[in-house]
Amino acid sequence: MTNIIDFLANRHSSSKLSAPGPSDSQIDQLLEIACRTPDHGGLQPWQFVVMTGEGRNKLGDIFAAAATSNDADVCVIEKARNMPMRAPVVITVITKFVEHPKVPWIEQVGSAGCALFSIQQAALAMGFGGIWRTGDFARDALVRDSFNLEAEDEIIGYLYLGTDQCPSHGHKTIKLADKVTYWN
Ligand SMILES: Cc1cc2nc3c(=O)[nH]c(=O)nc-3n(C[C@H](O)[C@H](O)[C@H](O)COP(=O)(O)O)c2cc1C
Repeated sequence: MTNIIDFLANRHSSSKLSAPGPSDSQIDQLLEIACRTPDHGGLQPWQFVVMTGEGRNKLGDIFAAAATSNDADVCVIEKARNMPMRAPVVITVITKFVEHPKVPWIEQVGSAGCALFSIQQAALAMGFGGIWRTGDFARDALVRDSFNLEAEDEIIGYLYLGTDQCPSHGHKTIKLADKVTYWN
C-alpha cells in the first residue's frame, strides 16, 4: 500500500475521465466514508445525489433548462446538457442546512465541503480520478429548485469520478511562506 503521507502529498484532480467509474458497491463505500466527515453537533447536514448512466441525463436536462432560462444560445445549451457526460459517475454534494443554536451555516457548509473532498480522496485511493466542479450551475435558481433546495441550502459541488485518462500529473508550486505564519 502506498504510504499515506505520500498519497496525501501527491493528491491531484483529473479532468479527463472515462469509464469505468466506481461500481455501485464502491460508491456505497465512498458515501459511507463521506459520512465519517467531521460534523459539529452531529447534524449530518449533507445530501448526496448520485448520477450514473442515463441518470446523468437528468442533470444534463436541468443544466440545459437553466442555460435556456438564461437566454443562452443553442451551442451553449447543448454544451450545458452534455456536461454531466464528462465522467461515468457524478455525485452532487449538497448542504442541507439544519437550524441549530451553536452550529452556524458556515460550519455546515465547511462540513459538506469536507464530505465532498473525502469522497474524492477515497476514490483516488481506490484508483479512480476525480474533479470537484461548480460553476454557474451550482448557484443557478432553476438548478437549485430542481434539487428542492431551501434558501440556506447549498450545492457544494459536482464531483466527477471515473478512470483518469491523463495519469501523469505535475506538481503545483507551493510557497508555504506566503500562506503560513508561525506563532511560537
Ligand atoms: C469549490 C471548488 C469549485 C471548483 N470548481 C471548478 C470548476 O467548476 N471547474 C474546474 O475546472 N475546476 C474547478 N475547481 C478546481 C478543481 O477541482 C481542481 O482543484 C483544480 O483543477 C486544481 O487541481 P488539483 O486539485 O489537482 O490541484 C473547483 C475547486 C473547488 C474547491
